Amino acid sequence: MLAIKGGEPVRKKEWPQWPVFDEREIKILEEVVKSRSWGGGLSDSGPWEAKFEEAFAKRHGCRYGITVTSGTTALFVSLLAAGIGPGDEVIAPALTFWATGSAVLMTGATLVIVDVDPDTYCMDVNEVERNITEKTKAIIPVYNYGTSPDMDALVKLAEEHNLVLIEDCARAHGFEWRGKPVGSLGDMGCFSFQEGKFMTAGEGGIIITNNELYAERCFSIKNCGRIRRGRDISEIGIDYWWNWFNFRMTQFQAAILLVQLERLDEQLKIRQENSEYLSKRLQEIDGITPIKVRKELTKHQPWPYAFKYDPKSFKGVPLHRFIEALRAEGIPASGLDHPPLNMTLTARYPSRIKRTKYPVAERAMRETVTLPQWVFLGTKEDMDDIVEAILKIQKHADEL
Ligand SMILES: Cc1ncc(COP(=O)(O)O)c(C=O)c1O
Repeated sequence: MLAIKGGEPVRKKEWPQWPVFDEREIKILEEVVKSRSWGGGLSDSGPWEAKFEEAFAKRHGCRYGITVTSGTTALFVSLLAAGIGPGDEVIAPALTFWATGSAVLMTGATLVIVDVDPDTYCMDVNEVERNITEKTKAIIPVYNYGTSPDMDALVKLAEEHNLVLIEDCARAHGFEWRGKPVGSLGDMGCFSFQEGKFMTAGEGGIIITNNELYAERCFSIKNCGRIRRGRDISEIGIDYWWNWFNFRMTQFQAAILLVQLERLDEQLKIRQENSEYLSKRLQEIDGITPIKVRKELTKHQPWPYAFKYDPKSFKGVPLHRFIEALRAEGIPASGLDHPPLNMTLTARYPSRIKRTKYPVAERAMRETVTLPQWVFLGTKEDMDDIVEAILKIQKHADEL
């Protein structure tokens, strides 16, 4: 009998806990406390911040890293550093967290929302191309569901049309595209360190780049207009100088992130292996289709893991009921993580949003099941539990 009907659940064991920490986080926090260097650096990065910026940027193939308070502010600051503002258009995908769109709207620019590819749920490059106008200044591809858009095509498109490419890597720490770290494929890469992300300090973000000018502008914009020690305002351009904000990260966050970075590759490997194994097994189940990881992604991990559900193979059981039954079996499943941007951000800024058609993103709301990233820190047996629970629901679908 299904657990939702009072039967024994497939899984009673705990899932891996998140965030992961050990003595290293505690020790380094003690060092920061005792140092009395708690805040973000003013005329330069603070001591732990400087180390973290260098180490994170290096791991992701970039010369410069600029820490900020969140993934949202990373996107906002990078757009400002690229000179984006009122009258400009920026293209973003319909399936993402709202911040990808709201960061664009905060600059005063117009947000152009495009549909996603049906296999990857990431930005559809043909839709991007179709929506480029003489006002377009930037494209923001998002690495979502542990996969990506066709980055080769997007890099080429950005070059051909002289557009700034800002990669939203909030969910893509450690990913590599044909061996090249993501965040270094375009002009700037933006990451989040919010609590659920692959590396976390509770909150935080970083912009990485190989462009020195963008790096210095980002430093100044996030640091109340201060120019880095040894630099001159003429180097960053006076027009960029008036955009002042305090988006500085604390040394506590930077110190914790230094330790979290030490675990990144080891955890990525586990999540990658487990998610690939799960996808292989799920492909064998009628009515279940995992979201496709592009073959060029040599390193990846799911945030969140997503698969499509077809009720026809489950005696017509609707998606929400299938998810309830899966949760009762001990599997922490949910629906699509966020409704499409075209359905959420439009109310407040109708005149600064350009809409097209979203058949794929809107269908995704009706057919998607997601699993959180920490589920994939476990073992192959944990993945087998997920498969077993789905098969059990399929077999007993008439109980629902
Ligand atoms: C794709 C994407 N972009 C941007 C952000 C914003 O990051 P933060 O929550 O750190 O502001 C998130 C966070 O959830 C995200 O998932």
